[in-house]
Amino acid sequence: MNHIQALKHPIFKIISQSAEELQLSCFVIGGFVRDYLLQRGNAKDIDVVAVGSGIELAKQVSKNLPNQPKVQVFKTYGTAMLRYDDIEIEFVGARKESYNEDSRNPIVENGTLEDDQNRRDFTINALALSLNTSNFGELLDPFNGVIDLDKGIIRTPLNPDITYSDDPLRMMRAIRFATQLNFKIEEASLKAITANKDRIKIITKERIVTELHKILESSKPSIGFILLEKTGLLNYILPELMALKGIDEIEGQRHKDNFYHTLEVVDNIAKTTDNLWLRWAALLHDIGKAPTKKFHKKNGWTFHAHEFLGSKMVYKLFKRLKMPLNDKMKFVQKMVLMSSRPIVLATEVTDSAVRRLVFDAGDYVDDLMTLCEADITTKNPKKFKKYHNNFKLVRDKIVEVEERDRIRNFQPPISGEEIIKAFNLKPSREIGIIKEAIKEAILDGEIPNEHEAAYKLMLEKGKALGLTIHT
Ligand code: CTP
Repeated sequence: MNHIQALKHPIFKIISQSAEELQLSCFVIGGFVRDYLLQRGNAKDIDVVAVGSGIELAKQVSKNLPNQPKVQVFKTYGTAMLRYDDIEIEFVGARKESYNEDSRNPIVENGTLEDDQNRRDFTINALALSLNTSNFGELLDPFNGVIDLDKGIIRTPLNPDITYSDDPLRMMRAIRFATQLNFKIEEASLKAITANKDRIKIITKERIVTELHKILESSKPSIGFILLEKTGLLNYILPELMALKGIDEIEGQRHKDNFYHTLEVVDNIAKTTDNLWLRWAALLHDIGKAPTKKFHKKNGWTFHAHEFLGSKMVYKLFKRLKMPLNDKMKFVQKMVLMSSRPIVLATEVTDSAVRRLVFDAGDYVDDLMTLCEADITTKNPKKFKKYHNNFKLVRDKIVEVEERDRIRNFQPPISGEEIIKAFNLKPSREIGIIKEAIKEAILDGEIPNEHEAAYKLMLEKGKALGLTIHT
């Protein structure tokens, strides 16, 4: 079948003509072809494989383009890249590769298109479209990748043991594609991943995290995490999540399986937000539960202060995975630390509790509510409805309290300077005590968040501390 339709963009004709000038053949391969056949939108990354030098072809294409864009050459990999409009085109010479045991860096030899397709990760990523004038648009599919696309199957062109062992990142990629596309990983592949799982160690943390992000950004991330767990990769990548798996029973009392609960929360939150870091927060919100789990004769299972421990664990986990230790990490920590706060609130929604919640969560209060709503995984429809209604009340109350009291970015109505002036003080402990008393009174609703009321309270507190007013 011909797919000229996929190659409508003028760039393809220019590549084709350039290849003819150099008397070599070339093909579009990989993600672009796969996503075109899946009708997954217009890909902006195009991979071109040349039977010959990819670098020479890139240079020739640049010459033939009106603006003659710069060609970036990656000599060690034998690849070249150029940008045209908003499209990024990568050129590579067809290769035959073999890998050594301890690294992803292959020993490269020139090869045919078939050699090159052989060394690719999955049949659905080995599909190629011809850019040669003789058969422009023809699909070259030696491994029945189109059938796999139709059936929704991730399968390797070669024996999966070879494909995954050659490049263990592909184990993560298989799981990532299965999650993004809602595909099944073929049984032989799953077995090979399980057998080769330890080889993930030679992959950099950054590459692993890129795949984890893509799994989390999918519409149903649990597909990926269940596969990571099943193959044993999760133990290596996120042992904190692994530790949540399982149910203990003592004296007939059981707790829920916090691993599967977490995955439900992540799937729930994926329906309401694209915020990757909020999705991370959902994934990690219960990690403190494994190390804090205890059984009490009277109270049953408890996870005392798991939110606090969990937020500490977030730092270690981010550090281990070489993720940014910046405001994104702090946001995840804050969400984990506060993850139970609105739940306590939902049983009795008082103004002062809402003010304290808004004070502590600041600008992230809406994200925190989204997380807590996603955390409702009860299978009892009555309870489900009740909890959601309660959170709706909390959300309404947040809006109401915020309009009145402006707590979100709380600025004390009385400054330290003003206290110093009023009592003719040197910087001292008393200033802090008075400021704290004013803040507490506002949060408790004893006084409004206004200067006049706060000033009056300042005078009273000063008097109680034995200070005299400076006139
Ligand atoms: N590839 C591979 N093994 C890898 C990475 C990539 O065989 N570990 C091949 C596949 O043929 C893939 C192509 O290189 O289709 C391009 O890789 P990449 O740009 O990373 O992925 P895409 O398949 O384009 O998909 P996405 O853009 O979703 O990452």
